[in-house]
Amino acid sequence: MNKQLRTPVIAGNWKMNLTPDQAAALIGELKPLVANADCGVVLCAPFVDLAAALEAAAGSNIQIGAQNCHWAADGAFTGEVSAPMLKAVGVAYVIVGHSERRTLFGDSNETVRQRTRAALDAGLTVILCVGEYLEQRQQNITVEVVRTQTKIALAGVTAEELGRVIIAYEPVWAIGTGLTATAEQANEVNRAIRDLLAELYGRDAADRVVIQYGGSMNAANAAELLAQPDVDGGLIGGASLKAADFAAIVRAAG
Ligand code: PGA
Repeated sequence: MNKQLRTPVIAGNWKMNLTPDQAAALIGELKPLVANADCGVVLCAPFVDLAAALEAAAGSNIQIGAQNCHWAADGAFTGEVSAPMLKAVGVAYVIVGHSERRTLFGDSNETVRQRTRAALDAGLTVILCVGEYLEQRQQNITVEVVRTQTKIALAGVTAEELGRVIIAYEPVWAIGTGLTATAEQANEVNRAIRDLLAELYGRDAADRVVIQYGGSMNAANAAELLAQPDVDGGLIGGASLKAADFAAIVRAAG
């Protein structure tokens, strides 16, 4: 099965939680629990926690990511952080287009494309989030919405750069709500995203892209979701703040 071409990635999204000390303590707890993971392990921290997180994770199999980046390399953008700045402090991953950025902070498909471009130019790996609202699912336009989001974000991304893109399918109605897409719903949309990638880049390249599921993934439901043929990992919010829960999800990916 093509799933063997991909190493799953379990990424935590701490959102606006944890001080630097708390971040270091959580990583300290996690390190022994995930040391033998068969998947990639990434933690996406708030900007001010990155230095402490990088130091705490040094020498381990935990990689550190940020939760957003600006599209310009530098300039008069008060309060923003650029992709080259993230790269310079040792960050390897950045989440782009999370639904909270889209709904609460005005991110559009076009700004998500620009942020993706900037992150790739800086040498980062992008975790590109896509997903539909509940009304869109009810209108049966989920695949159309997710295809459009993905296509616009990847406009101009080369086949080689695609190797540094992870896509996270996160139905907005499942984020932080306790509602999870069924394993079949998650797989169906992940499959549709992979089919789009095959149209854009060819089947071989598409088969190598890690496509995660996110939205109330937890220790109890992770194994069933991760067993799906097109679900290659997870983007974990709430459950990433507890070492035991996050480690259980990492184990479920192995
Ligand atoms: P959740 O968040 O796991 O708390 O639903 C997922 C996300 O927003 O990435």
